[in-house]
Amino acid sequence: MIADLPEPLADALRERTLRRLTLSERRPGTTSPLVKVQVRPIELQGETAWQFTLHEPQKALHENLAPAPALRRLAQLLHDTFRQVHWSTGSEDSSARPPRQPGQTWQLHRTPRRSPAPPTAETAHNRPKNYLLPEGVPCPFLHEMGVMNPQGQVHRPMMAKFRQINRFLELVRDVLRELPADRPLRVIDFGCGKSYLTFALHHLLTHIENRPAQITGLDLKPDVIAHCQGVAQRLHCAGLDFQVGSIAGFTATEPVDLVVSLHACDTATDDALVQALRWEARVILAVPCCQHELAPQLTNPALEPLLRHGLARERLGTLVTDALRALVLEREGYTTQMVEFIDLEHTPKNVLLRAVRRPRQPPDLTATRHRELLAYRECLGLPETHLERRLAETGLAP
Ligand SMILES: C[S@@+](CC[C@H](N)C(=O)[O-])C[C@H]1O[C@@H](n2cnc3c(N)ncnc32)[C@H](O)[C@@H]1O
Repeated sequence: MIADLPEPLADALRERTLRRLTLSERRPGTTSPLVKVQVRPIELQGETAWQFTLHEPQKALHENLAPAPALRRLAQLLHDTFRQVHWSTGSEDSSARPPRQPGQTWQLHRTPRRSPAPPTAETAHNRPKNYLLPEGVPCPFLHEMGVMNPQGQVHRPMMAKFRQINRFLELVRDVLRELPADRPLRVIDFGCGKSYLTFALHHLLTHIENRPAQITGLDLKPDVIAHCQGVAQRLHCAGLDFQVGSIAGFTATEPVDLVVSLHACDTATDDALVQALRWEARVILAVPCCQHELAPQLTNPALEPLLRHGLARERLGTLVTDALRALVLEREGYTTQMVEFIDLEHTPKNVLLRAVRRPRQPPDLTATRHRELLAYRECLGLPETHLERRLAETGLAP
């Protein structure tokens, strides 16, 4: 079907230089309801795709197509419905009309642009976002960590990570007003791993928000921590340090204001929550990961049709665990929400627990939440959880 498109248009699609395209002039006798079609590039999961906007008299529909189906769809629309196509690339504007008779060629007009069009900023699906770290603006830590090049262009395979970093920063910025403003902030990132998000946090507080902060990244893995220390030194990140250690075993010299724990494995998230509760941290941001503790223990005869499927049991176990964590945080004096961290299409580990310490716990709320917790566990056949045991050991359980 590519042969059914004029060659320069097929090239612009293949080479991804097409900026926009319009199909118009309905063919006489066509039965299609379409009056016009527009096409623009978008980005879906780090790949270029083409968004078709199909205009009917009263409505417009969208189709997002990968490159090969997009070529076929365009050729079909030009064959059946329209007899005029206009398109633009960075260097020229063109139009074409299909051959009237078999054997004739396309009537083609090509006009070079006087000045090249600026690079399209429209490739992000649903238009560009106002990211805190925008693409196109060089950012030393993102370059150092292999997310973007020195000119600020994001490496395509790192696009999901780039979005995750920006989403995380938005979530942090939303809670900054909850944190002390009269002294440097104390922040810990438990299970920091390669520390994309720790460096991002440092960048946000230090360079964007101008909030002095002492940030510690902690992880079990010495090699990972050595790497992070090297990056922090090369980038002269004042106020950022990395330590090897376990979350449960960590002792801070002073209470921490903001506790972050992103994708720390299984009950390591609970250890992070316990530490935060001990310090009475103002804000806790936790994205739990691989919740294995409760799933095998779930028992409820009425739920047997669900629980007998391993996959369903595992997914329910994940939600049950995180809701239980939210309930414990509520009981302990935090307004707690479960929010979407990053689109489900990128990772199923996309629930963020956002907990902000209440200035005062309303009377009876602790007792009410505790009763709810006991009833919740009983209904699901669950014994006391790791989180509750650890809280009891720390002297925090009611
Ligand atoms: C999946 S990585 C996440 C890294 C980073 N937070 C992120 O979201 O990109 C989980 C990290 O948590 C660390 N970790 C797991 N359990 C831990 C514990 N009990 N104490 C300290 N670090 C832990 C692991 O070593 C690993 O580097």
